[in-house]
Amino acid sequence: MILDPFKLPKHVAIIMDGNGRWAKKQGLPRIFGHQRGVEVAKKIINKTWELGIPVLTLFAFSKENWERPKEEVTALFELLKNYLDSELKNLKEKEINFRVIGDKEDFPKDIQEKLEFVEKATEKYNRLILCMALSYGGRAEILKATKQIAEKVKKNEIEPFEINEEIFRKFLYTKNLPDPDLLIRTSGEMRISNFLIFQSAYTEFYFTEVCWPEFTEEEYLKALLSYQKRIRKFGKVYEF
Ligand code: IPE
Ligand code: IPE
Ligand code: MG
Repeated sequence: MILDPFKLPKHVAIIMDGNGRWAKKQGLPRIFGHQRGVEVAKKIINKTWELGIPVLTLFAFSKENWERPKEEVTALFELLKNYLDSELKNLKEKEINFRVIGDKEDFPKDIQEKLEFVEKATEKYNRLILCMALSYGGRAEILKATKQIAEKVKKNEIEPFEINEEIFRKFLYTKNLPDPDLLIRTSGEMRISNFLIFQSAYTEFYFTEVCWPEFTEEEYLKALLSYQKRIRKFGKVYEF
């Protein structure tokens, strides 16, 4: 498998799905799937860094995932805390900028503080932007932006006719980031589940049956290779 280094995506987004089903197949509780999923995420972050892809966004916890049993949510918090504690050194060494997209304020105070600490400690880096989507929902993001813009209109800071795509984007969590070029979803589900719905308007999608805990670097390369074969038209006429 030969990747063209000049045709790599600038932004890869991944819906890391299928942890629970993978665990069930092994006869294990769901949390084992999440545990293994964290290890896979570390490997894929590393590979993205090695390849020199500038932005990676991982969907780790959705706005809707709060509806899950309390024990599962608490176990996910523990995994997140351990990840942040154990990975900070590695993030710094690799000069990775860690960012959160989503409603950080939904999390318990100790997690919010840890997230902000790691964001702050890595803000000067840019070898890779690692965006973690936590308590993220695309509809909530769009509504939040709309409310903030409405406030500005009310204060006469902006005229309604001036609102355009460029301005709207400034109110999204992903401001300053390019739209994802490639979106990967594991576990055979073929839906977007409220992930980056505004930003993925022209994103290339790649679905695989493989569950996240068994996703490998090789599977990742397959997705990237598939991306490199696509012709992106953005609504224009494409001449061969
Ligand atoms: C994805 O795996 C991880 C999170 C949503 C936190 P799931 O937990 O959704 O696993 P399945 O889809 O139930 O197998
Ligand atoms: C999307 O997966 C969220 C994450 C991977 C964090 P879900 O498992 O929550 O999505 P649905 O419920 O299958 O659509
Ligand atoms: Mg799922």
